[in-house]
Amino acid sequence: MTASATFSTDQHVLRAGMVGMGMIFDETYRPFFEQAGAAGIYDPSFGVCQAPLTAVASRTGGRAEAYRRAAAGKAGDFQSFREPDSIGQLLKTDVDLVCVATPDDRHFAAAKAVLASGKHLLVEKPSVLSLAELDELDRLAREHGVLAKVVYHKLLDPDHKKLRTLVADGDLRHVNHGYCSLLEPKSISGGQFAEWIVGRNPGTYVAVHYIKLIDFTFGGRLKSVACTGQRGLVGPADGPTWDSTQLRLIYQYDDGREAAFDIHTSWVTPDNFPGYVEQEVQFRFDNGVWNGHSRKRGVECTIEGQTPLARKITMNNHYNGTFLEPWGERSQRGYGIEVLERFVREVATVEFGGPVGEREQRLQRARELSYNDLSADRQTVAAVQAMEAILARHAVGQPNCIVELRREGLVLLPPSVGETEVLYRGAC
Ligand SMILES: NC(=O)c1ccc[n+]([C@@H]2O[C@H](COP(=O)([O-])OP(=O)(O)OC[C@H]3O[C@@H](n4cnc5c(N)ncnc54)[C@H](O)[C@@H]3O)[C@@H](O)[C@H]2O)c1
Repeated sequence: MTASATFSTDQHVLRAGMVGMGMIFDETYRPFFEQAGAAGIYDPSFGVCQAPLTAVASRTGGRAEAYRRAAAGKAGDFQSFREPDSIGQLLKTDVDLVCVATPDDRHFAAAKAVLASGKHLLVEKPSVLSLAELDELDRLAREHGVLAKVVYHKLLDPDHKKLRTLVADGDLRHVNHGYCSLLEPKSISGGQFAEWIVGRNPGTYVAVHYIKLIDFTFGGRLKSVACTGQRGLVGPADGPTWDSTQLRLIYQYDDGREAAFDIHTSWVTPDNFPGYVEQEVQFRFDNGVWNGHSRKRGVECTIEGQTPLARKITMNNHYNGTFLEPWGERSQRGYGIEVLERFVREVATVEFGGPVGEREQRLQRARELSYNDLSADRQTVAAVQAMEAILARHAVGQPNCIVELRREGLVLLPPSVGETEVLYRGAC
């Protein structure tokens, strides 16, 4: 066989659907589909695969129409469906895969409908809010022979890849403790998310990035979850809507030793803060310390009349930036877009990356990718479910509950006397 015979020159198309046309669509999915719909992606095993956006679903359809106008032909010809039953209508079209980027408490219903109709699924973080929901999605994905994956783009951040590499290679040994902080601007809670913010918290929305980073990078068994938070800015001081949260996770490793991680989040940082989000981590090991600050990677830029409101002083050019390339092209690229490309590459590999008779083996291999498969999201979802349950108890007057991951399941323990509550029965 000649070398060239191993490179497929086939051409394929995967038609993509999108549920939710909000901020994250605009930031990452829009540029991805514009690129993948036109040039496609290439792999020696399947050739070229285009992934045009062919159908979208949203509450009102307003932003879909605004996008159609603004895209000026770059978007291709997509159908747009709105409520009621926008997702049901989308699923009647001939899409092959569907991305879900609705508010986090609406992921499950959309994801379930996608999998039940036999389409591959990519859902934004956090995948779902309970282990029972996760079980159901995993069951449906297996029953219908499709992929169910979740977006945690921070795992593709080059800094976090380096951290994981040093841990995997044994250069950084045994994590002992760490803290992470992610502070979002007020415009998120007061404007962007105002429609669905009642009863929600910034921990589920953003601490989950770090829960996953810790879980994926260091492994181990999640033992317990504690959480507290503050109220009074986004909603009433005695209500169910949170301004900020502080989460603590305790993990245990194979050698019996433990590590503790504190994750602080907020969505009430002043809008004139010099960066979009403040993101900082520190992890301490037996033999080292890792300090990371995504906003201080090196660039500070002030422009009269623009910074810090219209344009931020510090910028993350690694996540998702617009660039004039040295060869003259305009581009938009970064790990926020790369993570979507990886998913489509995985679907294309399953569907087209070898003989039809070996699809099942390719599907199994794609499922083993623990960075994004729903089946590997258990401890992250358990932490989110626990945090939500602890905050719900706090909001009705019982603060400082703890959730333990026990043999019998996910168990909520009141701080002093009181009934324990089994949040989930079974292995977490
Ligand atoms: N990867 C990231 O870093 C990142 C960043 C921001 C948001 N997100 C995630 O993306 C998701 C959406 O966030 P966003 O900032 O784009 O929110 P958004 O509020 O800007 O947009 C939400 C979209 O969902 C649509 N929608 C709401 N309910 C719907 C329903 N029942 N059926 C169909 N469409 C519905 C709305 O019409 C809107 O288009 C959230 O899960 C969030 O956690 C991820």
